[in-house]
Amino acid sequence: MFEGKHVTLTISGSVAAYKAATLARSLQRAGATVRVVLTAAAARFVTPATFAALTKQPVLTDTTWWHDDGQIAHVELADWTDLAIAAPASANLMAQFANGLANDVASATWLATAAPKVVVPAMNSHMWQAAATQRNRQRLLDDGVTVLQPATGALAEGYAGTGRFPEPADIVRQLEQLELFTPQTLRGKSVIVTAGGTRERLDPVRFLTNDSSGKMGYAVAAAAQAAGATVTLITAPTRLTPPAGVTVVPIQSTAELAEAVLTRFPQADALVMAAAVADFQPLTAADQKIKKTKDNDELILKLKKTPDILAEVAKVKRTNQVTVGFAAETQNLLANAQRKLQSKSLDLLAANDVSRADIGFNSDDNQVTFIQADGSRDQTPKTSKQMIATALVARLAAILETK
Ligand code: PMT
Repeated sequence: MFEGKHVTLTISGSVAAYKAATLARSLQRAGATVRVVLTAAAARFVTPATFAALTKQPVLTDTTWWHDDGQIAHVELADWTDLAIAAPASANLMAQFANGLANDVASATWLATAAPKVVVPAMNSHMWQAAATQRNRQRLLDDGVTVLQPATGALAEGYAGTGRFPEPADIVRQLEQLELFTPQTLRGKSVIVTAGGTRERLDPVRFLTNDSSGKMGYAVAAAAQAAGATVTLITAPTRLTPPAGVTVVPIQSTAELAEAVLTRFPQADALVMAAAVADFQPLTAADQKIKKTKDNDELILKLKKTPDILAEVAKVKRTNQVTVGFAAETQNLLANAQRKLQSKSLDLLAANDVSRADIGFNSDDNQVTFIQADGSRDQTPKTSKQMIATALVARLAAILETK
């Protein structure tokens, strides 16, 4: 699994830092080329010389911002990396990563890499259980980082608890069980993904929108990128951080989304419309805030249809391009979805039952039935939006192959 892979091992300040030497050797034995970054705190426990000698590679420390040839050290290393592992990862390092800090070479390298990331925590058990650390752990998981469970047992403090650095052999075993390296089925392909709920202005301070969080679209963007595609994420406002390395195009209204999609689609190989797009918009948006008065107990809004973006795309779609839609339905899921697949000339559609609270809008999980233009159908189990996105990308890649 590690054969020919470039692994960056970030080591932070921990009594367990010495065990990272064994981990580096194990990864090398498994076929990886390993480069090491030491935080300033780690360099008080172990020396760069140890790791330079073991890995036969230069070690970055907190003073290595530039290589001798003028390259920016953390960006060069980030771009080289196929897999980033932080082990041992202290509470402080996890907090830096979770908050997107880039205030030392280790965190800057981590932030700059688009490669899969694994954190192996090691810290005092109370620090591990602290609400802030658990919040940071969850944030890392939300960002698609794999966080291994620290081991339970005797701690350096003289008492037992959860927080121990797992044995290097265990770490390698766990890494081997994870599907860390996605097959590059979309290498060289350009994919547009839309995400989030559009906003249709009523007046300068109000808009009509829906419950979309953007999670599904962001997961598709991340999965397409992991499969090697160049990804443009056209996104309505969300609370999410876009995957590193994708081109982000912010939009608000359906009209803006339509323009952003239609100008970029001719250069793309595929389009995935995961955005929850308004079907209607106010006939006019008021220039000033709509006031309530003594006389208006009722306010009647007049709405008009928005452009159907996928239908517009269908008019200009070339035979070698793939379009994928989602159907958000509260009733007659499959019949309505089938109709949308045909009316929008889609290659693939994910039929999404949005009447359920545990999947669909705003949930971390989803369950869809994939319907293809050739009539084939398959239903996924209920699972994370990341897994749904991976399944969608696999089907998208297979369809592109046939074009
Ligand atoms: O964002 P999350 O909280 O993660 O939720 C995910 C989701 C439920 C929003 C997502 O999985 C989903 O179902 N997205 C499609 C929502 C939608 O607009 O469905 P629809 O059935 O109304 O539209 C069908 C397709 O046409 C969609 O791909 C939609 O993007 C597209 N459309 C819709 C309206 C319009 N004017 N133009 C379009 O192109």
